[in-house]
Amino acid sequence: MKIFLDTANMEHIRHGVSLGVVTGVTTNPSLISKEGKVDYQKVVKEICSIVPGPVSTEVLSENAQGMVEEAREIAGWADNIVVKIPASVAGVEATSRLAREGIKVNFTLCFSLNQAMLGAAAGAAFISPFVGRLDDIGEDGMEVVADIVEYVDYYELPTEIIAASIRHPQHCLAAARVGSHIATVPYKVLLQMIQHPLTDSGIERFRDDWRKVMAREGLL
Ligand code: G3P
Repeated sequence: MKIFLDTANMEHIRHGVSLGVVTGVTTNPSLISKEGKVDYQKVVKEICSIVPGPVSTEVLSENAQGMVEEAREIAGWADNIVVKIPASVAGVEATSRLAREGIKVNFTLCFSLNQAMLGAAAGAAFISPFVGRLDDIGEDGMEVVADIVEYVDYYELPTEIIAASIRHPQHCLAAARVGSHIATVPYKVLLQMIQHPLTDSGIERFRDDWRKVMAREGLL
């Protein structure tokens, strides 16, 4: 499963990329506004220059024509741009039109297999089911991811599934278990994924045992 970072924080993106494990980034207007930045284009271009793989950024228009025009402009910002289009009726039309033009779409705000089927039929390169937000309303977000993954795999569709709205490391495990192609995770979750108390105590014990040897040999 590929790991993307779900953030617009430059420092976090640089760190994730320097670890060599983050191969893409997803952003949205909420994440960009959280960073206190107003120049949307500048922020997205900077992210694209740091990240080796796809960088998803969202349109704000709510009608198909507006989405298509916005997406065409955004697609020109960098080679690795993917345009996020919401899973609405207008979004399906915009996705179909953009896919025909060769513009990569991340079909976002997806909460059901029905929405995903239409996104895939429209030619979306990526589909993003929002796990945490489904859990928030008492549904099983990961079950939706599992259904969508099974669907695209069964029909051998070229669409990649991004488990999004990931809130904790258990979501990452579950996404991997159901075969999600990608999980886009907040920076905090990325760091939590590598944490284990036995690793910390193991490092400490190796260091202490070796120090004892060095001390015994008079080398400390
Ligand atoms: O990738 C989608 C994500 O940004 C939404 O996350 O936590 O606001 O549901 P959240």
